[in-house]
Amino acid sequence: MTIAYDDRDWQAAMRALETMGLHLSAYKRPQLERRLGSFLDREGFPSLERMVSQLRLDRELFLRLHTYLTIHVTEFFRDPPYWEQFRAVVEANPLKRWRIWSAGCSWGAEAVTAGLILENLGQRFEVTGTDSDAVVLERARKGLYRTSDLDKVPDSWRSGFRLRGEYYELMPFKFGTLRFQTHDVVRDDPPGVFDMVICRNVIIYFHTDARRRVLHSLASSLVPGGRLFLGATETFLECRDMGFEVERPSIYRKLSE
Ligand SMILES: C[S@@+](CC[C@H](N)C(=O)[O-])C[C@H]1O[C@@H](n2cnc3c(N)ncnc32)[C@H](O)[C@@H]1O
Repeated sequence: MTIAYDDRDWQAAMRALETMGLHLSAYKRPQLERRLGSFLDREGFPSLERMVSQLRLDRELFLRLHTYLTIHVTEFFRDPPYWEQFRAVVEANPLKRWRIWSAGCSWGAEAVTAGLILENLGQRFEVTGTDSDAVVLERARKGLYRTSDLDKVPDSWRSGFRLRGEYYELMPFKFGTLRFQTHDVVRDDPPGVFDMVICRNVIIYFHTDARRRVLHSLASSLVPGGRLFLGATETFLECRDMGFEVERPSIYRKLSE
């Protein structure tokens, strides 16, 4: 079923969602419309207006919508050749302690992958994983993964996990820490100062202005010489203008001011 609505209905729904705490203004509209349309279908709402009325009464529905709209696809060692680049950068530039921010980390696979590589290199680290979706972060904090989540983890990295019941559990790190906190890259100030920001497959969902604002915000959290690690399919054509140089595929180095 395709639900008919006009631009006024759409704007009214966006305003109502905003007041309820669901901030969608950064997203590309066509994609958001597709996703919201399929949520309406799935939940059986005949109109945007009816969905909004029900959302005011039903917190569970609200959380379901939030989780549905923010796409959480992730995996350990996602796009392996790029993690080789990460490894090479970290290995060649030992620091007293790597401060790393995984922004838009979903259930944490990316933050954990960074931790596993640093641990393997014997380098000290603090990884902060953030996401705007509190529900998915709960899963990240548990550090328990289904067997299928580990499908693409190379054998050599599996010693980082141990079987606990029907789940795999992340073993404690010796050289570093991993923590997760709620954070919205569009609305919030960066949660600290970092040597590297990993923000992969997040800003591709944002329209040009929002994407640019987020890139500026991520850049502001980096020390001079800090690295920005973007997704495999993301371009950063304006990297020079924003004070970065390409260091390796998908990894950009912030030039000194
Ligand atoms: C496709 S996942 C990418 C996960 C991981 N970075 C990776 O590449 O495997 C996108 C994540 O970005 C999060 N996200 C979307 N909008 C966000 C925002 N404004 N602030 C923070 N996180 C956001 C979503 O909740 C989702 O978990």
